[in-house]
Amino acid sequence: MVFVLTHWINLIAMVCLAFSGFYIHYPFFPGFMGVARGMHFFFMFVIIINLTFRVVAAFFVKTAVSLGSREVDTDIKNWLPQKANRRQLWPWIKYYLFLKKDHPLGAKYGVLQKIAYIVTFPLTFIMAYTGFAIWGPTMDWAFFTAGVSWVGGYMYMRVVHYFLMWVFIIFTAIHAYLANVEGFAPSALIFAWKESEGLHFDKEGNPMSGASH
Ligand code: HEM
Repeated sequence: MVFVLTHWINLIAMVCLAFSGFYIHYPFFPGFMGVARGMHFFFMFVIIINLTFRVVAAFFVKTAVSLGSREVDTDIKNWLPQKANRRQLWPWIKYYLFLKKDHPLGAKYGVLQKIAYIVTFPLTFIMAYTGFAIWGPTMDWAFFTAGVSWVGGYMYMRVVHYFLMWVFIIFTAIHAYLANVEGFAPSALIFAWKESEGLHFDKEGNPMSGASH
C-alpha cells in the first residue's frame, strides 16, 4: 500500500514539474510564470523527499514476491539481482526486440526492468542537482558552482536540466506502455491497489501450485 502512495506522489510531482518546467522554458500562455515557478519549487522538494522515503522504505516494507502472489518479502530483494533473473538478459532483449514471443518467467521484475527502474534514482538526483545549481538560494554553494563551471556556465546547466526532462518524458512513455501491454493488472495494482489473481511464483521464480498458466 505504501508504494501505491509513493507512486501516486511521484506521478503527480513529475507531471507538475514537467508542466511547470516546460512553462518556465517556454511560457506558452501569459500570466502564469509566478504560479509555474512556485509549483516547480514546491514539487522539487516533494519529489526528493518522496524518492528518499521510497528507497529507505524498500529496506523495511515487505511486498509480494510477484504480481498476484500472497508470499511477501522485504521489497529491496526485488530490486537486487535474484537467482530467478540469472541468464535472462539476452532472452529479455530478444523479447523486447520482438525476436521472441513470450517473455521469460522469472522474478517480480525482469533484468532490464530492474536496471531501468534503478537508473531513475540517480537520474532524479541529477535532475535535482542541475535544478539546485540554477536555483537562486542554492546556486552559489560550492557543491553546485563546481558543476556549473564543469558544464560551462548557468546557461548550459539550464540546457542539461531541460534535456533531462525529455529523458523523463520518454522513460515515462515507455514505462506506461510496457506496464500495460500485457494487461492492466499492473495498473490496477499501482493506481487502485486492486490485487489480481494472476501468475503465482515463489521467490525462485518457480510457478506455484494453483498457478493459472
Ligand atoms: C528534482 C528537483 C528539481 C529541481 C531542484 C528543479 C529546479 C529548477 C529550477 C530552479 C529551475 C529554474 C526556474 C526559474 O528559473 O524560474 C527549473 C527549471 C526547469 N525545470 Fe526543474 N527542477 C527539478 C525537477 C525537474 C523535473 C523532474 C523536471 C521535468 C521532468 C524539470 C523540468 C524543468 C524545466 C523544463 C525547466 C526550464 C528549463 C529552462 O529554462 O530551459 N525539473 N528547475
